[in-house]
Amino acid sequence: MDLQLAGKVALVTGGSVGIGKATALQLSQEGVGVAICARTRETLEAAANEISQQTGGRVLPVPTDTTVPEQVNAMVQTTVDAFGRLDILVNNAGRPGGQATGPLSEVSDEDAMEDITFKFMTYLRSSRAAAEHMKRQGFGRIINVGGLAGRNVGTIAGARNLAITHLTKNLSVELGQYGITANVVHPGGTRTERTAGLVAAEAQKRGISEAEAEKQMYGDTAIRRIVDAEEVGYVITFLASPLSVSVTGEVIAAGGGSGRALYI
Ligand SMILES: NC(=O)c1ccc[n+]([C@@H]2O[C@H](COP(=O)([O-])OP(=O)(O)OC[C@H]3O[C@@H](n4cnc5c(N)ncnc54)[C@H](OP(=O)(O)O)[C@@H]3O)[C@@H](O)[C@H]2O)c1
Repeated sequence: MDLQLAGKVALVTGGSVGIGKATALQLSQEGVGVAICARTRETLEAAANEISQQTGGRVLPVPTDTTVPEQVNAMVQTTVDAFGRLDILVNNAGRPGGQATGPLSEVSDEDAMEDITFKFMTYLRSSRAAAEHMKRQGFGRIINVGGLAGRNVGTIAGARNLAITHLTKNLSVELGQYGITANVVHPGGTRTERTAGLVAAEAQKRGISEAEAEKQMYGDTAIRRIVDAEEVGYVITFLASPLSVSVTGEVIAAGGGSGRALYI
């Protein structure tokens, strides 16, 4: 299947490592011009070079802190200035698991507020800025990366992901008339550069092998293993394609069948 992505332009936030980098690589492989953002310039530039060398495509590093409104507008403008258009926005930058962890009785107001404002506000701001260009073009794809914590109680990160879902449906209704779709992808436990360290620490804590620790931490999915970042990237890449036009305002889980609840 030709995804009809060649010649399109994408902006992937948090594109220096993990799911963002894997997505940027998939998009670049499909012939998309890609801008990636993150705060750490060195890692960001290394990722852009690596992807570009692998695919032969243009990958532009745009150092940005997405929590700073002016930087978000500048990031979108820099992308449009460099590539002449913007077709695809992947909102992905975030802190996996969130800042506020532990029982709600012990969570500080500051950490909870940071979790809610970080992803929700940054996704809103970048969607708003990107949509102006997409409207003019009569085409756009917004993919907001949430997380399966949104389908379970127990964390502020879950509430944050649910807020992103509401925002995304809202965007889909407002922007559909301009040829723009908006969807959420919820990763579950996903293998990124951080995973080996997390597994090793857990193995040491429990006095078990790393293989056993990984199974206990991530094996309770229908596919009985952790999902790789690139496998989340495939889903995002399909949603970025013009062929995905019939899917908008939806929430797609890319967690390998995590959880037992039914969503109808
Ligand atoms: N991995 C999982 O198991 C999992 C599960 C559920 C949901 N998710 C969600 O999937 C997304 C990606 O997760 P991941 O595991 O791939 O994350 P990751 O490996 O920790 O990478 C996060 C990326 O975001 C960037 N970033 C963080 N804060 C930023 C800021 N303020 N401004 C700009 N860039 C920023 C980071 O670079 P800098 O630090 O240099 O800025 C990095 O490029 C997140 O939204 C996360 O909540 C992940």
